[in-house]
Amino acid sequence: MKTVRVGLVGCGFVSELHMHAYRRVYGVAASVAAVVSPDERVVDYAKRHHIPKVYGHIRELLADPDIDVIDICTPAVLHAPMIIEAMESGRHVICEKPFTGYFGRPGDPAPVGQKLSKALMYERVMEEMSETSRRMAASGQLFMYAENWVYAPAIAKSAEILRKTKDKILFMKGEESHSGSHADHAARWDMSGGGALIRQGCHPLSAVLYLKQVEAKARGETIGIADVTADVGTLGDTLSPQDHQYILSHPLDVEDWAMMNLSFTDGTKSTVFAGDMILGGVRNLVETYTTGGILNANMCPNTGMVTYLTDEEKLSDVYITEKVDRKTGWQFVCLEEEWTRGYIQEIQHFMECVAHGRQPLADVDLAFATIQAIYAAYWSAEEGRRIRL
Ligand SMILES: NC(=O)c1ccc[n+]([C@@H]2O[C@H](COP(=O)([O-])OP(=O)(O)OC[C@H]3O[C@@H](n4cnc5c(N)ncnc54)[C@H](O)[C@@H]3O)[C@@H](O)[C@H]2O)c1
Repeated sequence: MKTVRVGLVGCGFVSELHMHAYRRVYGVAASVAAVVSPDERVVDYAKRHHIPKVYGHIRELLADPDIDVIDICTPAVLHAPMIIEAMESGRHVICEKPFTGYFGRPGDPAPVGQKLSKALMYERVMEEMSETSRRMAASGQLFMYAENWVYAPAIAKSAEILRKTKDKILFMKGEESHSGSHADHAARWDMSGGGALIRQGCHPLSAVLYLKQVEAKARGETIGIADVTADVGTLGDTLSPQDHQYILSHPLDVEDWAMMNLSFTDGTKSTVFAGDMILGGVRNLVETYTTGGILNANMCPNTGMVTYLTDEEKLSDVYITEKVDRKTGWQFVCLEEEWTRGYIQEIQHFMECVAHGRQPLADVDLAFATIQAIYAAYWSAEEGRRIRL
């Protein structure tokens, strides 16, 4: 079998998670053959991960005939143009969340997140996404949406149970929240396309939409989003420097708190919460209430291992979980975090899709629906009304 040769774009936080997963791919020959970033740290990154080629610009990577798949791990503002360029050059694409967003156009008032109406953003993002999707489809290449929650064991098990029981999902409650992003681009709408809702909320939202489609298929029904309501806020703005001690985010023109409600065409409901102001480590949770029972997907925190320790210094080299501000006291240790959160299974699945020509579970439809619902939520929050899709 031919080796699947991957070109990685970006060498930051999420690229590390992808590399961790590529090293563990089995049953398919796969290698990361090149990495590209304008950041000079890319040279050390390549050395550390034994990646033979280093480029400074994606065009150089696309000119390399020895690359089959482009894996995009850059800030969101770069996703859509890179997806199109890569797919139109004849490469399959893996792209990190979010698929895309509205980042501003020349002539928009600044800062765009505060000054441009969300109704206009919705209209424009839908226009841009439709054009992006059209060009992606015309390229004939595979698009793999790197939504790791779809592949996380707890969500995969929820999907398996729904396929078998064919129970109706009445209500789902999803959450991703933590104490704020490490990345500067997370604070800016023109780089991230929004705040906590698009950066974090996109994960539980995609999981909820995915499970709803699993249910629809199992029951032979067609279910879509009927409408969206939402509220957002910037709670960090109200804090003194002392109160801001453990909360890392300093949003410029984005929200750090968001709650959205989805009504589906079958009359059922879902709630998604995202926050950049919640201490105690990352919270990645989906609760599913069905006609046959309850499924609680506790990716983190969970009680697979709980510790009580007292000496912070002795633990300096021990990893507990993402975004905890200390390692002592009671802790919910996330065991095999890259597995628990689905990064390993996601890359395994994508390599199998490329090698065997299969369609991914997390595809362009899921990516598109997630962004549409998020911008409907921003519109709803701004105007205080229900947005029908
Ligand atoms: N799935 C997840 O759990 C998860 C977690 C974190 C981030 N993400 C997503 O991954 C993406 C990257 O986030 P991150 O936290 O890794 O950010 P980061 O800032 O840590 O890394 C971004 C990387 O992109 C590179 N880059 C910037 N401009 C570039 C260009 N023009 N060409 C090539 N490389 C370029 C930077 O040099 C850097 O290496 C974002 O879309 C984010 O939403 C996903």
